[in-house]
Parts: sequence; C-alpha cells; structure tokens
Amino acid sequence: MYRTHTCDQIRDTHQGQSVTLAGWVHRRRDHGGLIFVDLRDRYGLTQIVSDPRNDETMHAVMDAVRSEYVIQVTGTVRLRPDGMENAGMDEALTPPFEIDQEKTVNEEMRLKYRYLDLRRDRMKNNIVTRHRFIKMVRDLFDARGFIEVETPILVKGTPEGSREYIVPSRLYPGKFYVLPQSPQQLKQMLMVAGMDKYFQIARCFRDEDQRGDRQPEFTQLDMEMSFVEAEDVMETNEAVVLTIFEALAPHKKILTKPFTRLTWEDAMNRFGSDKPDLRFSMEIQDVSALVQGSGFQVFSKAVEDGGVVKALRVPGGADFSRKEIDEFTDLAKVYGAKGLAYIIFEADGAKSPILKFFEDGGRALLEQIGAQPGDIVFFTADQFEVACTALGNVRVACADRLKLRKTDELAFCWVTDFPLFEYSEEEGRYVSAHHPFTSPTDEDVHLLEFSPEKVKAKAYDLALNGYEIAGGSIRIHTSPLQSRIFKSLGISDEDAERRFGHLLRAFQYGAPPHGGIAWGLDRMIMLLQDEPNIREVIAFPKDQKAKDLLTGAPTELPAAQVGEMHIVVKEEE
Ligand code: AMO
Ligand code: AMP
Repeated sequence: MYRTHTCDQIRDTHQGQSVTLAGWVHRRRDHGGLIFVDLRDRYGLTQIVSDPRNDETMHAVMDAVRSEYVIQVTGTVRLRPDGMENAGMDEALTPPFEIDQEKTVNEEMRLKYRYLDLRRDRMKNNIVTRHRFIKMVRDLFDARGFIEVETPILVKGTPEGSREYIVPSRLYPGKFYVLPQSPQQLKQMLMVAGMDKYFQIARCFRDEDQRGDRQPEFTQLDMEMSFVEAEDVMETNEAVVLTIFEALAPHKKILTKPFTRLTWEDAMNRFGSDKPDLRFSMEIQDVSALVQGSGFQVFSKAVEDGGVVKALRVPGGADFSRKEIDEFTDLAKVYGAKGLAYIIFEADGAKSPILKFFEDGGRALLEQIGAQPGDIVFFTADQFEVACTALGNVRVACADRLKLRKTDELAFCWVTDFPLFEYSEEEGRYVSAHHPFTSPTDEDVHLLEFSPEKVKAKAYDLALNGYEIAGGSIRIHTSPLQSRIFKSLGISDEDAERRFGHLLRAFQYGAPPHGGIAWGLDRMIMLLQDEPNIREVIAFPKDQKAKDLLTGAPTELPAAQVGEMHIVVKEEE
C-alpha cells in the first residue's frame, strides 16, 4: 500500500499511530537541526518533522528534498510530531515558478508547464468546481427526464456560421469531415427520432479569432426538447441554472430572481448590448428627437440619415481626466463610432466643446437627460447598432472605472425577440443571427421574402454580468419553411439539398415541434470562479493564438503521413 491516509486525514485521534503518506513537498524549512516539510496532495497538507536524533540516515534524505519532490513517508503521528522512520523520494527539477505562492506568473510559462500550474490551489479549485458543475448538470437534467446522448465528432461540413476545423479523409481522396461547431443538427435529428428530451456535455470546435471568452474548442451543455415553446425551454433552464449557482456560489448574491427579461431592442436601446450587464443601472437614453433640429451637425445629420443619437449619463463622471475621456473615445471608435461627444456638468455649469452649437446652450438636452452636478454625459450619433453598441461599451468601461461591477453579484437576463437575420456587408447577403434552423415568429413569417430585416426570431439568449452564457431557439420543423429560410440566406435549392438534404428529408418523416439551448459551460464556470478568462477553468486550454503550449500543437507531421491523406503542403510564401 502506497499510503495509509491522504494529507487531509490525520487527526489527534491518530496520535501514536504509524502512518504512511505520499505527496509533493510543498515547503521545506530547516530549523536548527529539525527539518519541517509540508507534504501536499490534492486533499490537503500535513506537516512532517525530521529529527536527526531519531534516525540519521532518514534525516539525510529529508535534508536533500526540495520543493515539488514526490516523497513517501512513514512516521508516528504526534501532536508535535518529531519521529519519522522511513522516507523514499523521487527527485524533481526545480519548478520554473513557485507552486506555493499566489504570485503572478507569466501565462506562457503556466501553459507550457500546465501540470505544475494545476498543482496550485486556485487552479485545482477551478477544476474541482468544474467537475461539480458538470455533475450537477447531469444529475439535474437526468432528474427532469432528459437523457444524455453522445453525438459524433467527425461530421459533415455544412458551412454556415463560424469557420470549421477540417479533417481530411484517408479513404476518400479529396473528401473531408469537419469537427462540429455544435451538435445542432444532430440534436434536431434526435427529436425527429422521438427522444423527446436530450442533453449532452458536448465539445464544440470553432476556428475563429480567440478572445478571453473564446476557445477553439470549448464545452457546451447542449439540450433539446420536443413539443415545447420558448417559455418551456427558458423555465427549465432557469431553474437548473439557479440551482447550480445557488449551490456552488452560496456567497454570491443573485440580483435577478426570476431572471430579468428584455427584448433585444430594449437591451440595445437601454444598455447598448445584446448581453447587458445588469449589476448596475446607468441606462442609455435616446435623445434623437431633441437634437434633430439642433445646430450641431454631427447630431442632426445622423438623425437625418436614419440614425440615432444616444446619451449616457455617468454620475460622478465629471472627475474623469482628459486622458480617461480620450480612452473612452478610443473605445467607442473600436466599436465603429466616429467620435464620442461629451458634456461635463459641474456645480458652476456645463462644459463642453459642443454646447456652443445649441441655441439654449444645451439646457433642454441636459434637462431631458436629468444631468446633475458631478455628471459627465457621453453621446454617440450613428446608425442604431453602432450608436448603441459603442455607447454600451463605454457604459461598461465607466462602470469599471467607478467600481460598479462587483464579482459577488450575479445578474441574469434573458434576451428575446432577436432579429432572425443580420446583413453581412462582407458576404453581401443576409446571414442568420443565430443559425439557419431558428424559427421566425409566426407574425413575421410573411415578411421573409419582402423585409427580411424586420423578421424576428423565436430565439433567446441568457446573459450573465455582461457575458452571453447561453443561446437557443425554437426550431423550424417543416421542410417547406426550412427551404424558405435557406432561400432568404441566398442558398439555392441545389445547394441546400447538397448541404442540408439530411435535415430536410428528416422533417418529412413526422417531425415534432422542438427547441433547445446550449450553455457556454466554460464561461459560466469562469464567472462562478471570478476568473478573468476561460483558459483558467479549462485544464489544458489553447493560448490566444490557438496554440497548445504544453505539447506544441499544431505541429508538422511526417510527409508520408500527410501524403496518405492526399494532401500536398505548399511552401510558405
Ligand atoms: P451558440 O453558438 O450561441 O449556440 O453557442 C452557445 C454558447 O456557447 C458559448 N460559446 C463559446 N464559448 C467558448 N468559446 C467559444 N468559441 C464559444 N462560442 C460560443 C456561448 C454561447 O452562448 N447550437 C446553438 C445552440 C442552440 O441553438 O441550441 C449554439 O451553438 O456562451
Ligand atoms: P468634430 O466636429 O469632429 O470636432 O467633433 C466634435 C465632438 O463631437 C468631438 O468630441 C467628437 O468626438 C464628437 N463626435 C464626432 N462625431 C461624432 C459622432 N458620430 N457621435 C458622437 N460624437 C461625435
């Protein structure tokens, strides 16, 4: 037997007993002849004391151990132990960073030596919490009658959405599998198959630009139900999400019970985001009507061109420095704004380069906005989405500056009534705002061919503290409507048959109405654990350039292995 106990188990009731422990040297100190070692395993720490008067050979071994050596120790338990009989050790290289301290270590180093990084308490807790989270998901959905079904990882490429990872076929030259972006079409097939309630802890793959809340492979809780409306899916998921967060984060305050509900338009208008952070209010206001005829061309012209003018009143913002205002302006520009106008309102009056353009010196404007001394008011004038989104990001940055975003508060929010399509300038066509299997609302179906931009979807997203943590919809379940959607997306009948024939066919064999959702599990666990990015809650993540720093993937392969796949790699140009 390697060990009789783990490092959390020794109590005073064990006093006098001989026990064997095994683990890592967390800390070692030499105190005038006595050597103290904190022995660590996943479960805890136990202090080992070695006294040369007890056993000299033994003491020589203990003298040689260093941090992170793996040792096995047999000794007698004492309240202040000083007897040890036996120790074996495996030498270890000096770790490239300290395991026993919460120091900031460069992330590249941490990812390269992830197995060391995962020894640290914080990382261990993240991984253990992740396990508990997933276990609760499985138990709670099981209790509600859902069954977990695994779907394949090698699937058919049906490009529509983000870029797919491609797997060449050895047996079929020139043909490819792709890795699933999500099990979307397969879970719909399971509904046609009569499974009624499905879920899966599903790995998804997307070859897209990385960000703090994105990984090329990530994990969803994917679920689908038959004979339901949006309300049923939202209720089921809200109950499960609440149970999990209340159990795993009892110290956090849930501000939204039941979860807040906002239409997409409301969320954009009031918070400048389709995943609003509702931990603080600071709502955006629409001042288009008021500035329409004003002498400030930037504003009046925007409204004339069919755009809007949005205002954000920031209480306490009059103190912002010139440099900070410039930073907010740069931020607004990142989101497409042409500028960020502002008015500083102090006890002795309003100050701003734009006031001179208003006949009344901006009095009516400030009054409508409800400006108070000590405020700064920011403005964006642009097309609806740009004006809202840019100011929405300024809203969040101001909240950070004023420390209004508290990690021990949770604000959940359902966002509904999304547009079905978005226009893609790049592709010169409408693309699905969610995915092409999302059902339009019954009221808007007739607009599909005439005003696609006006069609709303039976879609719902769940936002938490400014992050999109889940997204889903009621699906189309008849082939004629699905075909109409493909047409609106500029996909020909032929192309639709080639790419989605399996789905269109399935719907002809008796398909139940169905809908579901997928949670971004990594993001939820990141927020639960107050981590700044999802890499911290994934055991072996890729870096921000989709590289695996631990193993070095992606790597080159022997020419023969590549050749077998009927692939010729071009020299880098
Ligand atoms: P969607 O694409 O919105 O929906 O994905 C669902 C949730 O997954 C998370 N997510 C990600 N997390 C980490 N890295 C990524 N690259 C990444 N991309 C998405 C988000 C998101 O809300 N099949 C549909 C779901 C459905 O309609 O049922 C889907 O995949 O938190
Ligand atoms: P300008 O007339 O370009 O000197 O701009 C005067 C002020 O209006 C500056 O503070 C700009 O940042 C701001 N501004 C310019 N364009 C816009 C816009 N589209 N929305 C909001 N503010 C703007």
